[in-house]
Amino acid sequence: MAFPINRPRRLRRTDGLRRMVRETRLVPENLILPLFVCPGRDVKRAVESMPDVAQLSVDNAAREARETFATGVPAVILFGLPERKDPQGSEAWKDSGVVQNAIREIKERVPEMVVITDVCLCEYTDHGHCGVIAGKDVDNDATLELLAREALSHARAGADMVAPSDMMDGRVGAIRRTLDQNGFANTPIMAYSAKFASAFYGPFREAAESTPQFGDRRSYQMDPANGDEAMREVAMDLEEGADIVMVKPALPYLDLIYRVKQEFNCPLAAYSVSGEYSMIRAAGRNGWIDEQRATLEVLTAIKRAGADMILTYFAKDVARLLRP
Ligand code: PBG
Repeated sequence: MAFPINRPRRLRRTDGLRRMVRETRLVPENLILPLFVCPGRDVKRAVESMPDVAQLSVDNAAREARETFATGVPAVILFGLPERKDPQGSEAWKDSGVVQNAIREIKERVPEMVVITDVCLCEYTDHGHCGVIAGKDVDNDATLELLAREALSHARAGADMVAPSDMMDGRVGAIRRTLDQNGFANTPIMAYSAKFASAFYGPFREAAESTPQFGDRRSYQMDPANGDEAMREVAMDLEEGADIVMVKPALPYLDLIYRVKQEFNCPLAAYSVSGEYSMIRAAGRNGWIDEQRATLEVLTAIKRAGADMILTYFAKDVARLLRP
């Protein structure tokens, strides 16, 4: 394989040649757009730390879903901002909650859109943690039933898929059993399996108004230093019935995206989170980086590492860029 017989540059000479030998292709079909749904009508409240992202009332969320679907992106994932928060997060399973209403509205206006729901309590609890509090910590087992209730309520409203992001042990199994017992054996679960306690969620917590009021999430989200443990989390979720597993965040954890794909060879999603989005947007706005190129490069890298699907706030913009 020695030079000068071999010259890798031969295949980089023209755009045609480069396209021909390109190994990884970003396509809109693999992208999922997160939406923040809030109460009210005709509300579009900008999220300051996430340029071009807004909290949307149900009507506007449905419009956004339709525009997104038209770009070729087939899926959205919904996060809800409740009317009222309480210690249990009980609006999470209210049949007339914002997410439940948004599911129905989107399924009615854009029936082919895949509607995924984030299943977690942190947006709904007054303390901002992802489960019920006992003492100074989140009570794992007491939270499981509430998460299952929330997932069931989403399925009943018509969700195509539920995505638990709370990181309680055993939640995939608890949700699977509840769905199965209530006639939703065919509703898939996308599990946030390897979800790390990350600084990159900062802007999301402004968008979802879910900042913990005391402490942090390190007693349930993973330590960023741990890769082998991430593999064990994925193995457990698959055993409990997860249909798709997820690594989150994406960019600082490309090694784990690669490992999960190699070790489990299962459908794999990666969540390119709010901080990843805001960094690119901020640097782009300052003229410090070419925003479009950086976005395409990062998302391509996440796919190259092994992700089949990418949750990204850039989904609609990227889909438009990719259009022939
Ligand atoms: C809720 C949840 C979070 C994100 C997705 N689901 C925040 C958190 O765990 O604090 C983060 C998404 C993002 O930063 O874009 N548990």
